[in-house]
Amino acid sequence: MSSEIFGKANKLLEEIKANLPKSKEELEAFRIRFLGTKNIIRPLFSEIKNIENTRKKEFGQLLNQLKSNAESKFNELKAGLEAATESQEGEELDLFAPAEPIALGSRHPISITLNKIVDIFARIGFTVAEEREIEDDWHNFTAMNTPEDHPARDMQDTFYLKNSTEMLLRTHTSSVQARVMTSVRPPIRIIAPGRVYRNETISARAHCQFHQVEGLYVDENVSFADLKQTLTYFAKELYGPNTKIRLRPSFFPFTEPSAEMDVSCFICDAEGCNVCKYTGWVEVLGCGMIDPAVLENCGIDSTKYTGFAFGMGIERQAMMKYRINDIRLLFENDARFLKQFTSAI
Ligand code: DAH
Repeated sequence: MSSEIFGKANKLLEEIKANLPKSKEELEAFRIRFLGTKNIIRPLFSEIKNIENTRKKEFGQLLNQLKSNAESKFNELKAGLEAATESQEGEELDLFAPAEPIALGSRHPISITLNKIVDIFARIGFTVAEEREIEDDWHNFTAMNTPEDHPARDMQDTFYLKNSTEMLLRTHTSSVQARVMTSVRPPIRIIAPGRVYRNETISARAHCQFHQVEGLYVDENVSFADLKQTLTYFAKELYGPNTKIRLRPSFFPFTEPSAEMDVSCFICDAEGCNVCKYTGWVEVLGCGMIDPAVLENCGIDSTKYTGFAFGMGIERQAMMKYRINDIRLLFENDARFLKQFTSAI
């Protein structure tokens, strides 16, 4: 008799183990069968009295095991089923939900400024010339009429490649002039944006790497008046239609005559502010008529051709425009800084 009841209890134990409800309904059926008020385990408790004394304890333990197994299995199955329905619900598609906003990157203020400048010159027929940043001494200095004892060549200013007196990181985009004029015949009209390097101590105002744009125009009968007109057009396009320019005599080895160009302050409309240091003018670029010696160095007949050139730093332009007071911000790639330019193009 008792072995029969033992058998029944063991069978239920097996059934609990093997039971795998796959829906809420099946789980509820499991609960009713094993844990409900009229559950199938309960009547077995009243069978205890029919078990011989020596096995009563064993039977009691078996019933307790049945009960606790049913309970833990139910809890486990219930949790599993809930998690499954939750993830199913999560996957449901709402085709009418508004799209997640796309996190757009932003252009770097240097790129914005460079693109604007290049674009202005492209509109009047200048094409972009991009050249190497690792340059040789000839293109960077010699061809550009910068004699060997010129201070600009000093190790203090120029990064030479290791164990080389010949190869260097270009110190200005004027090296592109030599690259272009030795490979293309006039008429030449190019604009050359790019990175340049100088061995400077890094501070809020100076960096050892920065950007320049070089302009070059070589043809027959190019005059200083052409230079002035071109730069006036450029200044009005970049800084606004009311902008005035002034050219101050200056010196560069590669141009003769040379000038520096100031524009009427675009921050305060020449009223006087801390950007123009209350002069109403800000210096923006160096320029001049290409020295005939430079044309000849590059194999261009200086009796037939003349040309003008100009060069400007980009960081200063961007810093003035966006009121950035530390040049290092332009090289740190701090997303909090860059994000501020999201709406600029
Ligand atoms: N290369 C000069 C510099 O780095 C800028 C410059 C001045 C470029 C006069 C020119 C120029 O083409 O004509 O400061």
